[in-house]
Amino acid sequence: MEIDFVRSRFIKHFDGKTGNIYASPGRINLIGEHTDYNGGFVFPGAVDKGVMAEMRINDTEDTVMAYAIDLKDRVDFKLSDPNGPRASWARYIYGIALEMRKLGVPVKGFNIAFAGDVPLGAGMSSSAAMESCFAFGLNDLFGDNKVSQWDMVLAGQATEHNYCGVNCGIMDQFASVFGKAGCLMRLDCRSREFQYFPFKPDGYRLVLLDSVVKHQLSGSPYNDRRMSCEKVVKCVQAKHPEAKFETLRDCTWEDLDEVKDEIGADDYRRAKFVLGEKDRVLAVCDALTEGDYEKVGELMYQTHEGLSKDYEVSCEELDFLNQIAKENGVTGSRIMGGGFGGCTINLVRNDLYRKFIEDAKKRFNEKYGHEPKVYDVVIGDGSRKIC
Ligand code: GLA
Repeated sequence: MEIDFVRSRFIKHFDGKTGNIYASPGRINLIGEHTDYNGGFVFPGAVDKGVMAEMRINDTEDTVMAYAIDLKDRVDFKLSDPNGPRASWARYIYGIALEMRKLGVPVKGFNIAFAGDVPLGAGMSSSAAMESCFAFGLNDLFGDNKVSQWDMVLAGQATEHNYCGVNCGIMDQFASVFGKAGCLMRLDCRSREFQYFPFKPDGYRLVLLDSVVKHQLSGSPYNDRRMSCEKVVKCVQAKHPEAKFETLRDCTWEDLDEVKDEIGADDYRRAKFVLGEKDRVLAVCDALTEGDYEKVGELMYQTHEGLSKDYEVSCEELDFLNQIAKENGVTGSRIMGGGFGGCTINLVRNDLYRKFIEDAKKRFNEKYGHEPKVYDVVIGDGSRKIC
């Protein structure tokens, strides 16, 4: 994205003065879906697409003047307004500002203009890119950069929970803040320990196919899935009062089978997926260490199957893209992110890439009247100040 583009709009819409420019990326996730809020592992990386914002203190007590460049939409609001703005994009600014205040940052009035090139609703976390970018900017403008990266991750997550209606985990905000070019990251969402894994699969590439079915998590079955998992944990806990079960991470297959008849069939299948996915992330790490990409791919297909049949967060279009990948001999393919639309992530051998993409475009178009969008994955850096 062009710095000059954002700057010219900022100058035009406010008082002609420049501010500071910050950027934060969207993310991919190789494997480990719906495991973050279950205390499990995830394997994301930041991408080279994201959100860029220019921000400047405006010397008012608490008036925010905000301009969404891509939408050509201007909203002004006060941080003291208990309801906050209505526009969904402005709620991210309002929410993060209040969450940063909770962390001791004396946020006052500011002007902000922002733009993004991470596709909306594609499951690449455009919302986390916004939260991290705005948090980073406010920490710099008002907080002497005293808030830690982890606290900014948590402020982004709290913004989703408290102002946007999505009870998400921490994967997206983590990836957006901590991303590093060329590296995937394995995060243990319970202990928050993580390692960078340089990712340069010799002879393979990662490509996303966007079904363009808009994935929208707020008010969606996403929160229901989380509730299902929590219900199962409660049930296991009731059976073992002597032990502490906080999330599905603490539950074994035996624990799950023990409560099978008490929890509904749906909840059982949801928990079964999560337990399997927890093991798959670790197996992918081993396979990557050994350079066994065919194994990585096999595990990705298993994840798709589980997300589609057990967790039920797929849709017809995504299952079709997965099927096309299989038929083209693509090494690994699965739904990426929260589900209910968005992209598949595909690990494909270089020599099969062209034919796969051509076939996917043709067959998807024949069936749904439009081609899927194709994004070649470039793993980029996390949140940063540009100037
Ligand atoms: C969304 C959420 C994340 C995570 C994924 C599924 O992207 O924001 O916290 O739960 O879905 O893995």
